[in-house]
Amino acid sequence: MRSYTSFVEPSPIIAPSILAADFAHLADAVHDIEGAADWVHVDVMDNHFVPNLTLGLPVVQSLRKATVIPFDVHLMITDPERWAPGYAEAGAYNVTFHAEACENPVALAKTLRAAGAKAGLAIDRDTPVEPYLELLPYVDTLLIMTIKAGFGGQKFMPEMLEKVRDVRRRIRAKNLEVRLEVDGGISADTIEQAAEAGADAFVAGTAVYGAADPAEAVRKLKALAERATIRV
Ligand code: DX5
Ligand code: ZN
Repeated sequence: MRSYTSFVEPSPIIAPSILAADFAHLADAVHDIEGAADWVHVDVMDNHFVPNLTLGLPVVQSLRKATVIPFDVHLMITDPERWAPGYAEAGAYNVTFHAEACENPVALAKTLRAAGAKAGLAIDRDTPVEPYLELLPYVDTLLIMTIKAGFGGQKFMPEMLEKVRDVRRRIRAKNLEVRLEVDGGISADTIEQAAEAGADAFVAGTAVYGAADPAEAVRKLKALAERATIRV
């Protein structure tokens, strides 16, 4: 089994989303991708910020004990200032909150880092990225939604890649250490274009847990992303 001691590496990261797994067997779902995936993506939805409702802190705390793979927690919730630090304290590797739900992203990122996690800022489909480019030095992850946040299994929106290009340009120009993550509709058919646009972390729900062999699906996605990254 590969080790997870070196979390931030220049190679592309694949983060399977357990939203597409069987919620009665989440520990098994995580074990299925251990050794192949870099992070596991945990979608927290509160039925307020998005209409859907998934899981919360108690599930993350229990699941954290079941695996060593780093957790990439994606909070699709209102009032992240109140709830996000709990996920950092529960041992999440990266905690991402939405720009649309947060009054002071820089302050929350600082709180998350102080609690021992990486801090991520997410930009939903209908939100322009330009106003947030200046916040890049204060976060560890910038997540661009390539769908409207709320549900798995939606169709990838290539027009969102313009945002990815803008962010990558700024990361390069300022020589920043920020992971650029895409989330929504990532599959063997779409991951290369996202990598070419500059993404270096890829969430995949349906493409991993809808496959007969989730670990093999992860390896395939990683190989495609690596190849596309080398091309650019
Ligand atoms: C949706 C979530 C995604 C979702 C992606 O709002 O943020 O992480 O699990 O699912 P797929 O990969 O099926 O589009
Ligand atoms: Zn997500």
